[in-house]
Amino acid sequence: MKKKTSKTIQGWIDLVLGLQWGDEGKGKIVDYLAANYDIVARFQGGPNAGHTLWHKGKKLVLHNLPSGILHNHVSNFIGPGCIVNPTTLLEEIKQVSEILGLSKEQLKDRIFISKNAFIIHPLHQHLDKAIECSKGTSSVGTTGKGIGPAYAAIKDRINFRFGDVLLNQKFFKSQEYTGFEDRVINQLAFYNEKYGYKMIVGPELYDQSLLFEHHMEELNQYVTFVDIFWLQNQLDEGKDVLAEGAQGTMLDNNFGCYPMVTSSNTIAGAAPIGLGVPMKYFGKTIGVAKWYTTKVGGGSFPSEIKDEHIQTLLQEAGQEVGATTGRKRKCGWLDIPQLLYALRINDVDELIVTKVDINPLHSVEIASCYCLEEQKIDSFPFDISEIHHVAFHHLDMKWKLPEDGSSILDTDLRLYLDYIRMRIEGNGLQTKLTMVSHGPNRDDIIRC
Ligand code: IMP
Ligand code: MG
Repeated sequence: MKKKTSKTIQGWIDLVLGLQWGDEGKGKIVDYLAANYDIVARFQGGPNAGHTLWHKGKKLVLHNLPSGILHNHVSNFIGPGCIVNPTTLLEEIKQVSEILGLSKEQLKDRIFISKNAFIIHPLHQHLDKAIECSKGTSSVGTTGKGIGPAYAAIKDRINFRFGDVLLNQKFFKSQEYTGFEDRVINQLAFYNEKYGYKMIVGPELYDQSLLFEHHMEELNQYVTFVDIFWLQNQLDEGKDVLAEGAQGTMLDNNFGCYPMVTSSNTIAGAAPIGLGVPMKYFGKTIGVAKWYTTKVGGGSFPSEIKDEHIQTLLQEAGQEVGATTGRKRKCGWLDIPQLLYALRINDVDELIVTKVDINPLHSVEIASCYCLEEQKIDSFPFDISEIHHVAFHHLDMKWKLPEDGSSILDTDLRLYLDYIRMRIEGNGLQTKLTMVSHGPNRDDIIRC
């Protein structure tokens, strides 16, 4: 734990981040850690995320909601850095209310949406698909949820914040205003002009817009009192916050494998802005990485497994299928230069390695360094196309979760983790490997 730097600070924000290309198992880790926090807060991304939680044998996939939602004592904050699809969010709230046996009204004490969070309009989803189509073979392979256009609309200063829609609701309903449609038409005209599109969206967009307005109204109850200082006030009252990252470091808009990235910043540096809270409130950063890697969407990744048999074995054993899109995730070996890059750029204090119970293989490999021209490096290059060759370290190790209840740390996994530790220390980083997660349930986790 970092030392507190100021006596005036009462509560703290710790941070959980994905260190790879998303899908590291952050949702489960946040659900586990949330027991020790008062608030779980999302600071970026939107329903491109798919965080899977298990509650009493039932599966819950969250897209907009923070992963503290299953705890009675936890408030869940959707911060100003997020973009929200009101329709998806309401569906999630419905699912949560069914699983927990609580009414939507009762969930008012658990869900807080910042007035400064932005919206994803159905138009953004249409645009996402149109832009992807226009890129042809170099498309990003987005989730199709409207993420890029919604963030672009913020930068273009034509998007809406939750508060804008609420403040204007009376106006929207007045005689002189025909509804949200005018603004949508304006956005469409803006994009057609900006990108030279001749995009015409059919009447379904207007139906979707009406539904959208209706859903915004329903969400009103979770937004009303959440002004920009809501979270800071909670911290000053002594509440501890766990900030939950979405996607992963290599999908960061600036610091990931550009252009095959998402449209928000996913690294630690994004949290103060995405929550609207000064840096002095931040405590430790917890990084989450699988013992192997996966990627979904366009573009290759350095440690991708080329052997089809091993690829399929790992994909099936790990059920590596996108929680949001249902697409298969490509599997790769753990990538040390990539991991070191993520640990450094996020200044990770504690590392948690996930999915260690999934290993159908008799031996494993680790990407130990890259070769750029004649040079061996163990840092991540500016562009992955610069990598001429990836050197893999073969480890004659196999392990599986012991059935007799003994610890998985008594298997070859311990040697595998030692190798990771050795490389972290060898690079002069201070990160401590603190836990491994060995199953999807909240308590399938051990200290090491
Ligand atoms: P977008 O975020 O939908 O624009 O997609 C951009 C890229 O990020 C695509 O390759 C997606 O597959 C990937 N991506 C976005 N969100 C996630 C996630 O939560 N997990 C894994 N990959 C994601
Ligand atoms: Mg996911």
